Amino acid sequence: MADKLIIFDTTLRDGEQSPGASMTKDEKLRIARQLERLKVDVIEAGFAASSNGDFEAVQAIANAIRESTICSLSRANDRDISRAAEALKGAANARIHTFIATSALHMEKKLRMTPDQVMEQAKQSVRFARNLVADIEFSPEDGYRSDPDFLCRVLEAVINEGATTINVPDTVGYAIPELYGNFIKTLRERIPNSDKAIWSVHCHNDLGMAVANSLAGVKIGGARQVECTINGLGERAGNCSLEEVVMAVKTRRDYFNLDLNIDTQHILAASRMVSQTTGFVVQPNKAVVGANAFAHASGIHQDGVLKARDTYEIMRAEDVGWSANKIVLGKLSGRNAFKQRLQELGVSLDSETEVNTAFTRFKELADRKSEIFDEDILALVSDESVTSEKEQYGFVSLFQQSETGEQPRARIVFTIDGQEVRSESDGNGPVDASLKAIESHVKSGAEMVLYSVNAISGSTESQGEVTVRLQNSGRVVNGVGADPDIVVASAKAYLSALNKLQSKADRVAAQG
Ligand code: KIV
Ligand code: ZN
Repeated sequence: MADKLIIFDTTLRDGEQSPGASMTKDEKLRIARQLERLKVDVIEAGFAASSNGDFEAVQAIANAIRESTICSLSRANDRDISRAAEALKGAANARIHTFIATSALHMEKKLRMTPDQVMEQAKQSVRFARNLVADIEFSPEDGYRSDPDFLCRVLEAVINEGATTINVPDTVGYAIPELYGNFIKTLRERIPNSDKAIWSVHCHNDLGMAVANSLAGVKIGGARQVECTINGLGERAGNCSLEEVVMAVKTRRDYFNLDLNIDTQHILAASRMVSQTTGFVVQPNKAVVGANAFAHASGIHQDGVLKARDTYEIMRAEDVGWSANKIVLGKLSGRNAFKQRLQELGVSLDSETEVNTAFTRFKELADRKSEIFDEDILALVSDESVTSEKEQYGFVSLFQQSETGEQPRARIVFTIDGQEVRSESDGNGPVDASLKAIESHVKSGAEMVLYSVNAISGSTESQGEVTVRLQNSGRVVNGVGADPDIVVASAKAYLSALNKLQSKADRVAAQG
């Protein structure tokens, strides 16, 4: 019988640490539901002690998700661990993931602790956590750059204290596949009680090898858990990408001989949801989920695929959720058809009020756009005005004027804590004028570090999806807005970014 490979998704924790990728509680809950549909084994829902917002998000996910294990990260101290246990109380299956750095560099320069002190703290924390929850994961941060002798002693000690999963992070993405695989293998061979824990890999993508390193950790090292994120989201160059690692193990089962729980048909919906929520656009040539991943442009390839698919295709597009860019609904579609399509897309809105709001928005969109694609529906339900989460700023309406040779001018109506306000400005172009009109009233002082527009379904009739990245007092957030009118989409994205700046004030960094 084949072993099982556990898929541990950390999109909502490590992924969210990516500058600008912060998500609200409702957004995280929506993604967690999609991860459950995908049959992810473990969802790392956040870092409960890092902020009240993170605590509430972990708690909400722990209360809502029944099929996947819900995990919270925590530093190796009693306060963080107690906070994690508290947030996880409602979970059907709870895991605490505690970590402390073990490399000489991190211990000396960052923690300012001796190796003996780190050893004591690691043991004490796992002992403390084990009294609260049975499922304990321990990570030696910067494990791959740690002294192997010291690492062996720490890992043996924490397994004795009751750690059930040992994760070996390549925190800075320094590893090379063969070396990382052998590193895990050596640890497992040298540590006398290594068979009492499941071994896990956690690789960052700084040298573009996170997926390759993770797979080597599995194949050479014998790891049976992979930590990964949807679209490879994560700090700097990101984490190991879930869709790539899953499809590699599945497509090359002849080589890996491992079973997976994952229901791959939900991969694409998860990828789109994460991209639309965070504003991190998926590159067209990205494996598995990129727009071109299954597109055959050259004549020779097209001819081959038409004669026999497997001449150029190693996976079936429909197995990961691609269906031919379907026109799903139109102007005449009713509420039930809309609700059913939401279900097929794996979207569950929290209440009938949210379904009604989404349906009204859908009708408005169908009046302006004859063909409504799945992407349009996903963008529509990601819109903050559809969910019941109370936001400080909300879009109401926009008027803008632009003519060759004249200075563009915009007048916008939006809400601040439910009260309508009006503001006007001119600018270099209609988008500039609209955002200046908002900013002249709000006076956030935030600096715009990125503005991008993407056509959701590829034609000029498509909705424009705008991402705005704002930076203020060391915090970076992305706001996303979608509308057939890209000026309106821009205003929505700006207001969404302002909402996020408001809600993420007091965060502690996981690797600080
Ligand atoms: O990359 C890393 O070291 C981490 C740990 C907190 C597990 O994310
Ligand atoms: Zn990490």
